[in-house]
This record gives sequence, structure tokens and C-alpha cells, in this order.
Amino acid sequence: MLINGTQYRSVWFEHGRLKMIDQNKLPLEFGIKEYANYLEVAAAIREMTVRGAPAIGAAGAFGMALAALSAPDEKFRSYLRSARDELISTRPTAVDLSIGVNYVYESALKFIPDLPHARQVSVLAANEFANKSADDCLDLGVVGAAIIPDGARILTHCNAGALATVDHGTALSVIRQAHKQGKNIFVYVDETRPRFQGARLTAYELEQEGIPHAIITDSAAGFYFWKSEIDVVITGADRVCLNGDIANKIGTYEKAVLAHVHEVPFYIAAPDSTFDFNCAKGEDIPIEIRDEDEIKRINGSYLANPGSPALNPSFDITPAKYITGIITPKGIFDPAEAAQKVQL
Ligand code: MRU
Repeated sequence: MLINGTQYRSVWFEHGRLKMIDQNKLPLEFGIKEYANYLEVAAAIREMTVRGAPAIGAAGAFGMALAALSAPDEKFRSYLRSARDELISTRPTAVDLSIGVNYVYESALKFIPDLPHARQVSVLAANEFANKSADDCLDLGVVGAAIIPDGARILTHCNAGALATVDHGTALSVIRQAHKQGKNIFVYVDETRPRFQGARLTAYELEQEGIPHAIITDSAAGFYFWKSEIDVVITGADRVCLNGDIANKIGTYEKAVLAHVHEVPFYIAAPDSTFDFNCAKGEDIPIEIRDEDEIKRINGSYLANPGSPALNPSFDITPAKYITGIITPKGIFDPAEAAQKVQL
């Protein structure tokens, strides 16, 4: 992704350390953090220094590589098992995380008892996972640009951009490609309470690339549907099930219902790592419940009544029946057959 004229990935491995853009500081500060062990990486995923399904998948993969590099010889296998469990426990909804972590874990185990080789392979496997994730996101952007008409007014929710992936984005990869093709587009950016990934991160990425957009409150989307000013909705996903149900940032479901009522196409964009071939339907997806303080406070100060409890589900489920198509690197598929097509 382009930030102030320089190309970055959201996470990458350099000189034996994991580096990532600090997403909690954006857009007011651009900073890069460095991690030397998996426990620090687990904390960074929990605190959302890195967030977004494919990005936490890659961070988890690199976290496993750090674990393999520092695991004591005599406890190599059990150390890796603890690292795997700790990294996967950080966030439950995005399946990319367990896929990335397990990919490196299983790659390393294959080379026991040759531990120097197993360590080397773990770094190669993590890089391979991250590179494939970035390539998938670029490919799905090229595929998906076909559904964006010239002059389209697009609604997106949360940040499904390069920051949320290793590079390019999911929904924003489609939007970037449409813009690159010279299409005249405009993006409505849901602010995305409570952590404002839309207002902070999507708006930042769109501004960096010169893509016309405006931030709206989450509750303003219905107004723009009612005015017939939204032509297409695209979001990312944190997990896609076999039947085509998906989990994505809280608020996605209501946008899908609005799109359905207003006969506006609603698309999901997802790389291979977001498909869960063991998940039959939306009800089987674990939903992360985050701290109520994310809703009640901003920068430490209360904005809500301190004595009232708050409920903070971080994701919701959009049933397949409200999804027009799932944009993948291999093509755009009917939700009910997307997992099958991706698995081929
Ligand atoms: O809680 P977050 O910010 O990690 O949630 C991210 C999302 O829900 C994104 O929309 C999702 O990962 C889609 S695609 C990159």
C-alpha cells in the first residue's frame, strides 16, 4: 500500500523480527512496531495493533516463526504447541488466524528432529503464507473490479483495506482496482463504531490513494439507501462458511438487509484464508465479545454513562441469502457454492 509515497505491507519479517504498522495510532501518527517473540505478537493481536482477518493470519504465522526460532531444543514440540494455542486464543472470529498459525506449526513439525532445518522452514512458511495472502488480495481486486460500474457510489463497512490484509485489501482491493481502471467512483465509508476502523483506517487509505470518499455515521447508511445514492455494497469477511453465511464487523448484517430491501447488490470480498471448510453455517462461528470500555470510553475518558453496562459483540453474521456474490481470487461465486469453488 502507498503511504506518503512509500510502499508498505501491514506486516512483514525483517532481520529475525516481525514488523507491523501500528494501526491503533493511525491516522494521526504513522509508526512501525517490532516484535522478537510470540508472546508480544499475541499481545499485539489482542490489543489490535494489527487487526483485520488476513493481517492477523499473517501476524500469527510470523508469531509462530518467532516461536520456532527461540524454542529450546529439548522442548521444541511442546513450546511450539503452547505458542500455537496462545496465538490462536487471541481473537476467535477470523479463521485466517488459526489457518496462518497452523500452517507454520505443521510445516515446522515435519522437520523434527532436524531442528535447524525446522526453524528455517518456519520462517519460509510464514513468508510464503503472507505472500500468498497478498497475491490473493491483488487477484480478487482485479476480478472484483468488473462489478463496479463507472460512476458507482459504493458503501463499505469497517476497514477491509491493505491494513487489514498483508497488502491491497479485500473490499478496498476491488475499489483500488476500479479506481486504477479510471472509473469515476465515490465511496461512503461507515465510521464503524466502536473502534472506528472505517473513519480512521479506510478513510486514511482512500485519501492516500486519492479515491473520492466521505465518512458517514453507521446509522446514516439507511438515509443514503433511501435517497437511492448507493449503487453497490462491498465488505470483507472474517469467516466464510460452507453454506455461504459470513461473519464480518458488527453492523455488516444490517447493511446487507438494507441493501436487500433497496435491491442494491451486496458483495463480500475474501481471500482463500478466510474460508472455513469445517464450518457449516453462520451459527457455528464464534463471535468475539470485546470489553465494554471500547463503547463507553474514548482515549480513557467516559463518553457514556459510567454506571451503565454496555454490550460489545465485535462481529455479526450475514446470511447467504442477503449476499449477491463472494469475490475471490478465482472468480465471483454464488455464496452457496463459493467454498466448494475455492477449495477446488
Ligand atoms: O476487529 P477487526 O478490525 O479485526 O475486524 C476486521 C473486519 O471485520 C474486517 O472487515 C475484515 O477483517 C474484513 S477483510 C480484511
